Amino acid sequence: MLNSENTYEWFIKAFYPKSGLDLNFYKQNQMQRRIQSFMTSHKYQTYPDFIRAINSDPVLYDSFFKHLTINVSQFFRDTTQWNTLRDTVFPKLTQQKTNLKLWSAGCSSGQEPYSLAMTLVEYFPGINFSILASDIDVNVLQQAKDGIYKQNDFTSTPPQIIQKYFTLTDKGYQIKDIIKQKVTFKRQNLLTDRFDTGFDFLACRNVVIYFTEEAKEMLYQKFSRSLNPGGILFTGSTEHLFGMTNLGLKPVSSFFYQRQE
Ligand SMILES: C[S@@+](CC[C@H](N)C(=O)[O-])C[C@H]1O[C@@H](n2cnc3c(N)ncnc32)[C@H](O)[C@@H]1O
Repeated sequence: MLNSENTYEWFIKAFYPKSGLDLNFYKQNQMQRRIQSFMTSHKYQTYPDFIRAINSDPVLYDSFFKHLTINVSQFFRDTTQWNTLRDTVFPKLTQQKTNLKLWSAGCSSGQEPYSLAMTLVEYFPGINFSILASDIDVNVLQQAKDGIYKQNDFTSTPPQIIQKYFTLTDKGYQIKDIIKQKVTFKRQNLLTDRFDTGFDFLACRNVVIYFTEEAKEMLYQKFSRSLNPGGILFTGSTEHLFGMTNLGLKPVSSFFYQRQE
């Protein structure tokens, strides 16, 4: 093995063809730490050995990809913000339009898009809507399509919502079709793929935490162009757009931004 093969830069290049994940867009310190901790716990000492292993073992590859992309989620994660959405943001949006196009970008196993769908069905009965939900990880997308959840996905979910929109089965809580049919799932890499346009609402929460500042700014520029004028961007509870000028997005409440006319 050449010395130059056991560097992080080498790993980034070697990992890209199989994964489509360009780690240059992610913060190096955090990513390197996550890769190293996974390698250590699986007893790999060098990047080339590890790349060989994940290229030949699909189970190891999936488990590593999951570790790297961190797909922890929950229904109605950060209750205060979902209350603001229900009590302030959606009432204004639905006053202007009765047909909404929404997007949950980095949707993990579906908790976020299904929470959006349940909010609209439960509190805004006259509104027609469709939700696109995208993620880079095909395994979480499959879980989202299956729509079966465990008790600990519901820490922030009101009991009457669980009762109304889920059926308890042997495998867990199954989301009902009335909600499921509102959401279309697709694989998409937010850093490299083309975006659809004409959205009235876009949630991208807890996805950009490990992106570099440049990658975040580029992403928010693209998000802004995907929104209709008056459309809303909903960010995660540590994600502010401070200092990002010229995005054409103005804050309307904490963690909600509106695309300017
Ligand atoms: C922590 S989860 C957030 C899930 C949900 N938005 C929430 O807040 O509960 C982050 C998700 O972002 C996805 N992700 C990471 N990088 C991505 C990329 N470049 N393109 C699309 N999705 C990505 C991961 O696969 C993961 O499912």
